[in-house]
Amino acid sequence: MRSKIVAGNWKMNKNLSESIALTREIITNVAGKLAADVRVIIAPTFVSLSDVSKIVKDTNVEVAAQNMHFAENGAFTGEISANMLQDIGISTVILGHSERRAYFGETDELLVKKVNTALKNQLEIIFCFGEELADRKSENYFTIVENQLKNALFHLSEKEWNGIILAYEPVWAIGTGETASPEQAQEMHAFIRKIVAEKYGDNLANSISILYGGSVKPTNAQEIFSKPDVDGGLIGGAALKAEDFTAIIKAI
Ligand code: PGA
Repeated sequence: MRSKIVAGNWKMNKNLSESIALTREIITNVAGKLAADVRVIIAPTFVSLSDVSKIVKDTNVEVAAQNMHFAENGAFTGEISANMLQDIGISTVILGHSERRAYFGETDELLVKKVNTALKNQLEIIFCFGEELADRKSENYFTIVENQLKNALFHLSEKEWNGIILAYEPVWAIGTGETASPEQAQEMHAFIRKIVAEKYGDNLANSISILYGGSVKPTNAQEIFSKPDVDGGLIGGAALKAEDFTAIIKAI
């Protein structure tokens, strides 16, 4: 179902006690204040997931993992499976983040396996994709984005798309302080909805939440979120301070 979503990707920040403190602050700030169609999701590191998921129980804050392995289990030193996430009460996982693609060699082929395993284990996916600066400059960014989506997600059935949240994150805007303009975000989000509609029909395309990510801050969130095809944001740096994250939630 299309909802408005503000998700905080904490990346490799905050140890356990810091994660607990930040979670508590966020819970306090949003308690009783979210509209029915707004979801708030936080994604701490694996080390903090279990504790944080217990703390958010019975609140209006949800927790996601930042990654998982595609195998159900086995000899994959250092990795975490979908079942392990499920077992500690996690129902959402971020996949395909540009940092995973750039620093850990995640390809479309690998992401297909992760997507399939996540859905098989009833995990909802926040699927990240977006073009790099060179693509934006060479003006083939629509093709890049279209291929990322088609390669990783267009084998899914209509029903499986119930478990997909899209997060368009132009790589040149992540952690750089440079945000896509609201018009650039809207242009791409409308394009994404169009290619999903071409494959799956208008109903499905209109029911998908498409988040924007890349240097969203309290000062620019409202303008970006006001665009008709922008259903919220995936927030990195500004998700690490309860005050900023809460201000971004207010903007939606
Ligand atoms: P940023 O990160 O908000 O720090 O740019 C966004 C993201 O990587 O999801």
